[in-house]
Amino acid sequence: MSFDRSIKIAPSILSADFANFGQEIQAIEAQGADWVHIDVMDGHFVPNLTFGPMAVKAFRPHVKTVMDVHLMIAPVDPYIDAYADAGADVLTAHVEAGPHIHRTLQAIRAAGMKAGVALNPGTPAEAVAHLLDLTDLICVMTVNPGFGGQKFIDMTSKIRSLRSMIGDRPVHIEIDGGVDPKTAPLVAEAGADVLVAGSAVFKGGSVDTPEVYGENIRNIRAAASGVWA
Ligand code: DX5
Ligand code: ZN
Repeated sequence: MSFDRSIKIAPSILSADFANFGQEIQAIEAQGADWVHIDVMDGHFVPNLTFGPMAVKAFRPHVKTVMDVHLMIAPVDPYIDAYADAGADVLTAHVEAGPHIHRTLQAIRAAGMKAGVALNPGTPAEAVAHLLDLTDLICVMTVNPGFGGQKFIDMTSKIRSLRSMIGDRPVHIEIDGGVDPKTAPLVAEAGADVLVAGSAVFKGGSVDTPEVYGENIRNIRAAASGVWA
């Protein structure tokens, strides 16, 4: 995984057909997805349940790009090795998930993955001020985590603060929640480079009509780049 700040679209498979993940992942990658975003929820840190490490390991052979695993679980540390074994490229933990995010980020890197840190909408940018050299990605939540399809919460001032705090460090800013062709330009202009999108990518398409995914991805990318497709 090399670092650059070009716009990357990371479809969240939370909006895919849950009976057909292999084909859904292949379809979004064939249609231009840069990363594949996997939302892990525990019914405790967030009020919903999704994938354990065995499911994520089963997704791995289908992902040819970057497997971006977003942990919405607490605690995190007991599961780091399991998600490394499942083949995560990026493993992101929430700063709100426990008292020792510094240790968690060290452990994620020690397990051979890129370390991400996520911030809920109510958490300020300053929460990661002392973590900038321990992280490869900061995920700014633009919804309260737990469900796809929620309304975008404007976090552009937080994104700008983070962009300035990061400076020249090779740290991605990822936006997660309510990203579509209307909101993508706001977050891209503020300094984000990885745009997670669930409903806006999968809407209207299926593995039988994957070109719809392609059109949805192109529309988000074009909007973020300031040029409509
Ligand atoms: C929310 C998840 C998101 C979500 C995004 O808890 O972390 O990744 O699936 O879905 P949309 O794009 O539909 O808001
Ligand atoms: Zn997510």
